[in-house]
Amino acid sequence: MNKEFAIYGGTPVIQPGEVKNWPPIDHTDEEMVLNALHGSSQARGPHNIAFEKEFCEWNGNTYGLFTNSGTAALHMCLVGCGIGAGDHVLVTSYSWSSSATCVLHHDAIPIFVDIDPETFLMDADKIEAAITPRTKAIIAVQLHGLCCDMDKINAIAKKHNLHVIEDACQAHGAMYKGKKAGTLGDCAAFSFNQNKCLSCGEGGIFVTNNEKIFEGAAKLWSFGETARPEQNRDYHAYALGWMYRNNEITAAYARAQLKKFDYYFSTLRANGNYLKENLTGIKGLKLPYEPAECIHNWYNFNLRIDFDAIGFPNDVDKRVKFRDAVAAVIRDEGVVASVWQRFILPEMTVFRAKNAYGKGYPWSIPGADEGVDYTPANYPNALNYSRCHMSIVQTLRAAPTLPAARRADAARHRCRTA
Ligand SMILES: Cc1ncc(COP(=O)(O)O)c(C=O)c1O
Repeated sequence: MNKEFAIYGGTPVIQPGEVKNWPPIDHTDEEMVLNALHGSSQARGPHNIAFEKEFCEWNGNTYGLFTNSGTAALHMCLVGCGIGAGDHVLVTSYSWSSSATCVLHHDAIPIFVDIDPETFLMDADKIEAAITPRTKAIIAVQLHGLCCDMDKINAIAKKHNLHVIEDACQAHGAMYKGKKAGTLGDCAAFSFNQNKCLSCGEGGIFVTNNEKIFEGAAKLWSFGETARPEQNRDYHAYALGWMYRNNEITAAYARAQLKKFDYYFSTLRANGNYLKENLTGIKGLKLPYEPAECIHNWYNFNLRIDFDAIGFPNDVDKRVKFRDAVAAVIRDEGVVASVWQRFILPEMTVFRAKNAYGKGYPWSIPGADEGVDYTPANYPNALNYSRCHMSIVQTLRAAPTLPAARRADAARHRCRTA
């Protein structure tokens, strides 16, 4: 027992209050939100339209629709690409649930692909083996803020005539070969939920450069209508539509945050790189890998315990307990460390039970379930990763307010003695 650790009564490296709430709020947010509150519209209005334009200009997209969540934007991607009942859609086996449940929203079937053990992203070399005659799209999840091997994914998609949808919900500002996440496939979804690098409480955006995909997605977004509320509406439902729009107050807040995002991003990069440099060489600790063609946004800074390197018994329960204990030690030091997603997607009940909303749908659609096997052991890399990783999240983002050198030195010292 090392008495120096806060968990055993020592003084935490980071004092309560030093890590600020995320995101930082200043007069820009306050003024813009007040402006929206006093405007003539609190539903969709000028702030929504301006935010879509500003986000698209910043990211490099032609069309955008502000939504009430990233999940809604993902659903719009599927509909925009014409995915329908019983179609198969390839998705990584390790992600947030809605990277795959968005497929169920339109009665299509997710087909999972194991992850690459170093990037934790869909292993592009395993995609072709997962393609079935029903496959219509690949969802490339730019997880933790790191882009997938998009050249390989796009080449496979072209060969098999598939759409490429980016789940960029965590990937604001992340880059692949000089291009931003959200511009690397046919269309993309971002989330602005509070814990995202760019946030406005809750919200999302659907983006694309393809007019046809945009028009299809737009119908789903607003009651099946073909016109946006600011256009000449005929209030006619041309297709099944949801209500995925967002409001003016949230849009104004999103605009204010977007103005500051490039500063957040450079801070995240600097802090992530500092941690990488200073945590290198600790036995049993594996640092995140950033391929040369990518720029990570460090939404999640993932540490893995290399159990084999420290001779830890090959017992899953013991390894999970040990990983959780290490995360607890770090957390008690004041670092926001957590285990992001303990379960791989094929382990989740909705997929195991093959029953999304009753009567076995959508798997009970004739022929849709053919060859669909969600046995978790089919995804060994995802299983292994889910058992040994932990993420450092908010500490990295709120770091502009912290003395970086002191924090990193202390972290290094304590990791070495752990
Ligand atoms: C990878 C990924 N996809 C989709 C989503 C869904 O975004 P939202 O919570 O805005 O619906 C999230 C949110 O955490 C996510 O991390």
